[in-house]
Amino acid sequence: MSTAMNTAKTVTVKTVRKFKDEGKKFSMLTAYDYSTAKYIDEAGVDMILVGDSLAMTALGYESTHGVGIEEMKIFTKAVARGVKRTMVIADMPFLSYHTDIPTAIKNGGELIRCGAKGVKIEGGGEYINELVKRLTESGIPVVGHLGFTPQFMHTLGGYRVQGKTDEAVEQILTSAKALEKAGAFALVLEMVPEQCAKYITENLQIPTISCGAGRFCTGQVLVCDDVFGKYSDMTPKFARKYGDMKSFIIDCAKRFDADVKSGAFPSANEVF
Ligand code: KIV
Repeated sequence: MSTAMNTAKTVTVKTVRKFKDEGKKFSMLTAYDYSTAKYIDEAGVDMILVGDSLAMTALGYESTHGVGIEEMKIFTKAVARGVKRTMVIADMPFLSYHTDIPTAIKNGGELIRCGAKGVKIEGGGEYINELVKRLTESGIPVVGHLGFTPQFMHTLGGYRVQGKTDEAVEQILTSAKALEKAGAFALVLEMVPEQCAKYITENLQIPTISCGAGRFCTGQVLVCDDVFGKYSDMTPKFARKYGDMKSFIIDCAKRFDADVKSGAFPSANEVF
């Protein structure tokens, strides 16, 4: 009897590469908990990112800097338990991969042990290129992330669109090509003009994933709390709100509160 698992329908690095080769668009949403991941998977979204944006949306920090590897492991496990088809990528959080390569491989490997099928790391340059190579050689698929990179927001001087000059576009392309050469299987481009993203997408073999980088990338990623209308502290211009979970939650909570206070909850059917 064959012990091989039936993984025919699950999204893998191969599927993601094929999206680009066949000119197909794909979708990615963030998720941070079991139920949300389960429903996103059921909806047919191709990839889930356990984004370090959870520092803001789930934990209430002002930036992504608030979250570390231990928290990312907990959220990654919860998400991974919820999915069947969708490919789960976990963000490597601030300072979990910059000190040295062995620590970065250990941290990346732990996210894989938690159920991620790949990790995302921000930025480029010599150290990151070497790290992408070593992670990939260790069996840890890597998604790169260029353009606006939130973990570098203090170095970049805040939330700013990147790649606005010809020189900046060429720099991003040089970094992107080096990440591709090092083994990254996909690349998130965040907050760059769409012509910049188009140019980079056309000059890479690997798929690009737009996060506010326009219409010409292979995939699109958004933060689930923006899509569901849940997080309201700030909403980026490029995010599209498909629902109003904030109002839904407030409405449900108000009705529950009123029913408790009026004695309408619990009813005779809701007791033992
Ligand atoms: O942490 C995050 O949510 C991200 C974005 C690319 C969606 O990195």
